[in-house]
Amino acid sequence: MSDRYLGFANSNLGRRLVDALGLPRPAALERWQAGRLRPVEGALLIGGGPLANRVERVSAALTDERYSCLGEGLESPAWVAGLGPKLKAVVFDASALSDSRSLGQLREFFQPVLRSLAPCAHVVILGRPPEQLDDPQARVAQRALEGFSRSLAKELRNGATAQLLYVAPDAEDQLEGALRFFLSPKSAFVSGQVLRLHACASSVQDWTRPLAGKRALVTGAARGIGAAIAETLARDGAEVILLDVPAARQDLDALAGRIGAQALTLDICASDAAQQLLQALPNGLDVLVHNAGITRDKTLANMTPDYWDAVMAVNLQAPQLLTQALLDAGHLHQHARVVLLASVSGIAGNRGQSNYAASKAGLIGLAEAWAPRLSEQGISINAVAPGFIETHMTAAMPMGLREAGRRLSSLGQGGRAQDVAEAVAWLSQPGSGAVSGQVLRVCGQALMGA
Ligand SMILES: NC(=O)c1ccc[n+]([C@@H]2O[C@H](COP(=O)([O-])OP(=O)(O)OC[C@H]3O[C@@H](n4cnc5c(N)ncnc54)[C@H](O)[C@@H]3O)[C@@H](O)[C@H]2O)c1
Repeated sequence: MSDRYLGFANSNLGRRLVDALGLPRPAALERWQAGRLRPVEGALLIGGGPLANRVERVSAALTDERYSCLGEGLESPAWVAGLGPKLKAVVFDASALSDSRSLGQLREFFQPVLRSLAPCAHVVILGRPPEQLDDPQARVAQRALEGFSRSLAKELRNGATAQLLYVAPDAEDQLEGALRFFLSPKSAFVSGQVLRLHACASSVQDWTRPLAGKRALVTGAARGIGAAIAETLARDGAEVILLDVPAARQDLDALAGRIGAQALTLDICASDAAQQLLQALPNGLDVLVHNAGITRDKTLANMTPDYWDAVMAVNLQAPQLLTQALLDAGHLHQHARVVLLASVSGIAGNRGQSNYAASKAGLIGLAEAWAPRLSEQGISINAVAPGFIETHMTAAMPMGLREAGRRLSSLGQGGRAQDVAEAVAWLSQPGSGAVSGQVLRVCGQALMGA
């Protein structure tokens, strides 16, 4: 369903009216277009501590226009506020901030930058995982970055985003993959997120087809977010297997034909689902995306056992059982990537969704619980938590709730299925084993659960 207010507020007449009335004007977000090569089209500013040098070394692959500010030993031309170009991307390494006094450098660096951001700019702050630091003062300073980056994300305007990446010392070689995602329009609807990067033995060989040679299964792929995930994984070079219920065969076949994928009709809750899946995948998988999900909303007082059970079975039990069966049969390859579609409802809770929110929070628990075990085989498992995404599911919401869902976020609008798909595709890459047991929200920094 299209967001009429967003379209109107960005039209010539609408812009003037909305501004005159003092109403919020959500920006038309820039998305990744097929055929684009550079993650950043415009000026990239790099500054801060020693990781800035590391970023500078890979920056030629990110953009043609690079500048530096407040960094030691940086070779890019100096950027001067008011004179330098508008900035499309900014990376500030805060990893060397070692006590609360040094946090003032954040203000010093970002104040001039804020007035010089181009529309839909992307900001990334780098730090060290606080829990790995022995010095309490440094731990305090690094922990403080969370509050700063989330507040910065809330203050940004014009479709800009900000994230914090805590980079472990042995994960520095995976920075490029993360920056390619977080500095580009692939992360258009991701903001205010905090992720940790750890060591990862595998890396992307060809950035134009990061998933080349990988076999991926997407459940619930006939429509909505699942279809977008399948299309995006295929775009990135994966051989994709689309799974959905038998009733969705027509849509599934049409999509399979369009992207050159294999279609598999199966109810993931069927008693022999695991057996059927193993038979259909004799060569195993490199990427497993548990996207199939349903809602059966009712307040707890009115919740029927069949509503409760159906949601638990599809959203939580099937992903657990099928992943376990694939692991037991050795069908998940070394360095496989597992992505679970959770929801912001699973983080914040939602009235009328006690069953759904419990199932989605359970998926986050699944990622947290299995990540340490799977790391021995180099397998990562993460949850992606979409906020309000424009799909069949949200088109069916009452109008008031739908409008609230769209506007109550820093970006002031709903996301697109493509936004979720890009996050899943990034977490599916070989180098994204650097992230495991974590939750990435794709929610435009929704205020719910923030
Ligand atoms: N749309 C949103 O705003 C939003 C927000 C947060 C989370 N999510 C999650 O993202 C995922 C996709 O959401 P969507 O909006 O695209 O939903 P959708 O209803 O459009 O698509 C879900 C797909 O899953 C399939 N499916 C359902 N039960 C199945 C089963 N038993 N076996 C096999 N396939 C089955 C359906 O046939 C359908 O094609 C879901 O897990 C959902 O909970 C969506």
